[in-house]
Amino acid sequence: MTDLEALKRAAAVAAAEEVRDGMILGLGTGSTVKHLLPAIAVRGLTGLRCVATSVATAEQAAALGIAVEDFDAVERLDLAIDGADQIAPDGWIVKGGGGAHVREKVVAAAADRFIVIADETKVVDKLTAPIPLELLAYGLPATLARLDPCDLRPGLPPSPDGGLIADYTGPVGDDPAALAALLSATPGVVDHGLFPPGLTSEIIVARLSGVERRLLR
Ligand code: A5P
Repeated sequence: MTDLEALKRAAAVAAAEEVRDGMILGLGTGSTVKHLLPAIAVRGLTGLRCVATSVATAEQAAALGIAVEDFDAVERLDLAIDGADQIAPDGWIVKGGGGAHVREKVVAAAADRFIVIADETKVVDKLTAPIPLELLAYGLPATLARLDPCDLRPGLPPSPDGGLIADYTGPVGDDPAALAALLSATPGVVDHGLFPPGLTSEIIVARLSGVERRLLR
């Protein structure tokens, strides 16, 4: 295992320790979450109910014997755990490198606690583009023109909800809240990958020097 994979695994293992018997759990998406699922499975917890933010996560969970159900069947989650692409000092996070940010935000918002797990390369001084977007197919050229500069992500199929994955590539500026509000207010944008600090309960970052934990709420 490379150093980077070992760091992802260390963050994932620390978060897996927060999972308890009988919890309703939201499972994120990505290469860090890939380490989370076996770390949960190995604990042999009972009564765990899970929802997944992507088909890939649902498939890996099923292969590990972790039962995943439709999110239609669950109203609240006890805990959600997911990775991140960028983590700013003020707790703003960028997600969606894998295009799953819309489902990830729905799951994070439904959870009593949302834990973000990452290796130290995800910690940045300031958020920068690209900011992932999911766009409605209807009127796509007009939406892209309004969001300019914005590019459809090449080679990615539509999301499981039919949205097209794109990236806003303009300046983020010093106020991510302002950009988040602008993107949210743009017709045709299903959602964006900017996650505000208020959504996250804890950030677990694995560094070569050890695992750092930061409580946000
Ligand atoms: C999926 O769309 C993303 O939001 C991921 O959660 C995020 O990109 C982190 O992925 P890695 O753990 O693979 O870096």
